Amino acid sequence: MDNLSLDKARLSDSLRISILLKTVYIQAYAIEGITFEFANFIEEKFSKEKIEEKIKENPDNLLVCHCNGNPIGIAEIIYNSECPIRKIATPELGKLYVLERFHRTGVAGHLMQKVEEITRLKGYKELNLEVWENNLKAIKFYEKHGYKLLGKVDFPMETNTYVNLVMNKVFK
Ligand SMILES: CC(C)(COP(=O)(O)OP(=O)(O)OC[C@H]1O[C@@H](n2cnc3c(N)ncnc32)[C@H](O)[C@@H]1OP(=O)(O)O)[C@@H](O)C(=O)NCCC(=O)NCCS
Repeated sequence: MDNLSLDKARLSDSLRISILLKTVYIQAYAIEGITFEFANFIEEKFSKEKIEEKIKENPDNLLVCHCNGNPIGIAEIIYNSECPIRKIATPELGKLYVLERFHRTGVAGHLMQKVEEITRLKGYKELNLEVWENNLKAIKFYEKHGYKLLGKVDFPMETNTYVNLVMNKVFK
């Protein structure tokens, strides 16, 4: 693929990251169309202003993969997270979103490798993540990268509650 790069998110990327997150979210989860709860969720969580806030507060935590200078994938690391199953402090992969057009090209694998490398360099020994139990593509992807099931948690939204798998990888 042409001219790929992987860097920390810059403030000037905020609008495009916001659009990327909204697009990938809807492609992945809106299996019954754009419900109110999904529309409200992405407007709140993935607004340009929220992304700007995140980048200003924790400039190291968002990684962006660009193709020819344009964002195509993003990963977020949350260091001050707690494992919902074991109730202990555990860093978490908060997001791994790649535009559908760039799936199966290794972009997600590249982001995952970088996330693990950075987390390890900071001295952490493991990484957690949550994934919706029906997101089979992502579950396969995480299993391929060595993540194992720890348990399940509820993810309540406005009207529906979704079940997420909690997965974990202990670094070698
Ligand atoms: C999950 C996601 C990041 C994986 O991206 P990707 O570009 O397919 O990943 P890569 O090309 O790096 O890796 C491909 C691996 O993922 C898994 N995979 C991806 N798509 C798959 C599919 N349709 N069926 C089965 N396995 C799949 C396989 O293990 C595959 O390895 P293989 O090609 O050797 O079989 C991507 O599907 C995505 O952004 N989905 C929408 C957002 C999302 O669900 N994020 C995770 C939320 S927790």
